[in-house]
Amino acid sequence: MDFKEIKMSKLLYIKANAKADGESRTFRISDSFIKAYKEKYPADEVVELDLYEAGLGFLPKGKINELREAVQQNDRNHPILKFAYEFAEADKYVIAEPIWNLGLPAILKAYIDYVAVGGITFTYTEKGPVGLCHNKKAVNIITRGGDYSSESMETLEMADRYLRNIFGFMGITDFETIATDRLDVITEDTDKLMEGAIQKAEEAALAF
Ligand SMILES: Cc1cc2nc3c(=O)[nH]c(=O)nc-3n(C[C@H](O)[C@H](O)[C@H](O)COP(=O)(O)O)c2cc1C
Repeated sequence: MDFKEIKMSKLLYIKANAKADGESRTFRISDSFIKAYKEKYPADEVVELDLYEAGLGFLPKGKINELREAVQQNDRNHPILKFAYEFAEADKYVIAEPIWNLGLPAILKAYIDYVAVGGITFTYTEKGPVGLCHNKKAVNIITRGGDYSSESMETLEMADRYLRNIFGFMGITDFETIATDRLDVITEDTDKLMEGAIQKAEEAALAF
């Protein structure tokens, strides 16, 4: 009999929005993705990390050196580093964020400052920094009030672009984006936009 090793994946679902779950359009789309994913891959582990519920703050003043020492001691229970270790252990990432003021919600940037840690998710080499997160993939589920499809608007968009770059920096270059634009354009049929976005997310989940 041919026994093949079946590797289960660990998916980290990172949620960044101050709105309550029931009110967020971004979360409606990302929750649909997660639901479809769980149905398709029931054996995989899905860990939900709501950054607001986790009470994530900024990197505390005067603690950066302490962090470096904690990395050297491989302190996996450190209140800040535990997020970086959790991040490094995941195989897949689903990020749910609305664009805020052309960028990402500040709490998501704060999270990146927690997880982009030398010695855990990237390392320094003679050739410069190199990502340590290999063979992983990410999808960024983002909603935006405006329309960023034109070239002039695209350059203003720094939420998805930033995330794609910083994930790449950590070694995660398989990075997909599911963007829903024009949700605050008053002439738009937003129900229809949401319907299309949910369908797209559910389809993407099956191949994730
Ligand atoms: C603080 C704040 C800043 C925003 N900035 C932008 C922006 O720069 N560009 C844009 O297109 N939409 C912007 N929006 C609109 C949201 O991105 C959009 O309504 C999104 O769909 C909200 O998703 P949600 O329902 O999950 O919160 C902003 C909304 C808020 C609350």
